Amino acid sequence: MAKYLVQGGLPLAGTTGVHGAKNSILPVLAGSLLNQSTEEIRLKRVPMLGDVRAMVSILTRLGARVGYDGSDLLINTADLNCYHVPDILMREMRSSIFLMGPLLGRLGRVQICYPGGCAIGDRPINLHLEGLGKLGATVKEKDGYIEARGRLRGGEVGLTYPSVGATENLMLAAVSARGDTVIYNAACEPEIVDLQNFLNTIGANISGAGTPRIRIRGGCDLHGGTYRVFPDRIVTGTLLLAGVITRGSITVTGVIPEHLTALLELLREAGVTVEVNGNAITVEAAGPLKAIPRVVTGPYPGFPTDLQPQFLACLALAQGESNVVERVFESRFHHIPELCKMGAQIELSGPQARLRGVDRFKGAVVRATDLRAGAALVMAALAAAGNSEILEVKHIERGYDQLPETFAALGARITREEGARRELSLR
Ligand code: UD1
Repeated sequence: MAKYLVQGGLPLAGTTGVHGAKNSILPVLAGSLLNQSTEEIRLKRVPMLGDVRAMVSILTRLGARVGYDGSDLLINTADLNCYHVPDILMREMRSSIFLMGPLLGRLGRVQICYPGGCAIGDRPINLHLEGLGKLGATVKEKDGYIEARGRLRGGEVGLTYPSVGATENLMLAAVSARGDTVIYNAACEPEIVDLQNFLNTIGANISGAGTPRIRIRGGCDLHGGTYRVFPDRIVTGTLLLAGVITRGSITVTGVIPEHLTALLELLREAGVTVEVNGNAITVEAAGPLKAIPRVVTGPYPGFPTDLQPQFLACLALAQGESNVVERVFESRFHHIPELCKMGAQIELSGPQARLRGVDRFKGAVVRATDLRAGAALVMAALAAAGNSEILEVKHIERGYDQLPETFAALGARITREEGARRELSLR
């Protein structure tokens, strides 16, 4: 029931850092299950995100021992003994689907409930299941449950779409298969490279991540090791866009600017001053933003769907007409009605949003329906005239660590409140 209270209208200014990538940490945690040795895996500086906590709970239920040393996570999976992911945890975090690959590889069996849909769309898992089948698993689906069994063998798997999760699941499965595997039309996202680097650190032999063809040598003995995941490119983009939407000037340090090329190009097109200096990116948006006629999301290196809501919120304040086409998750537009409550003028037609830029948002009570939609609403509230409340921030906290504190340090007026009592008084 927690919520954020925002007093908008102040330009953000200053320098901030960014935590490790959620979308790397989750598959890396799943991959740690492949380590049969008694040696420990140390993951450096892991942010305590809602999704990370959920994944740690799952690993613990499966028999792993997970401890903390400051902000490092220590994982020992020598005693892994359970192949059933509890339903409640499976439903809590849809991406636990990529536990299938490591559990099959390690125990020869996995049982999960069907993860179902979520706020951003149906999210089928056919590519995961077909791919595991090609690596020798027998997959049965019945009454909302999936069970896969079998000793995995290497093979060639071509994906009909470069799914991030399916690529990761298959990489994880192929590490313990007998023989080599090649994945064609693999996703090229930086998080895939991060997963490869982590698995190679603990003894795997994988090459080609970041290209559409990934080769995995099967049957390597894995061991412990120390790894630190990449900085979160989506959090970086969100912080930069918060600077832009409030007409401020923000520097984000400790990032990998190449991961954000598509965003930075669009920002320049919108009239924002963008400077890249080593591992730091600075944006400055003094004047009005220019509309962008057509923004289309797509697989990396295309414009990321995970920045679509935040970028769309900025375009809703640009001069002229912009169009945003969502090609990855076609119904990922739950932020639009909430932005309209704040005064945005947006028409939705299938996967395309047409925006007529307005001068200003006004404060409102809005609801975060999912992680990135929620981030977009916080940004809009920071730019709005007057006060806003963002409800259901648990969605935001799945992927952003201490977002109110980060924005407050950049000059925003934002606080987090455990909202049960205040929410009642709003009705
Ligand atoms: C991952 C990210 C998510 C991001 C998305 C796209 C994690 C934990 N999540 O999600 O933040 O928005 O990549 O960059 O890393 N599809 C199928 N069949 C499948 C799998 C996917 O049809 O078996 C479709 C999906 O419905 C969607 C598209 O492929 O339309 C992309 O999905 P995918 O790349 O798999 O995204 P996720 O791995 O779920």
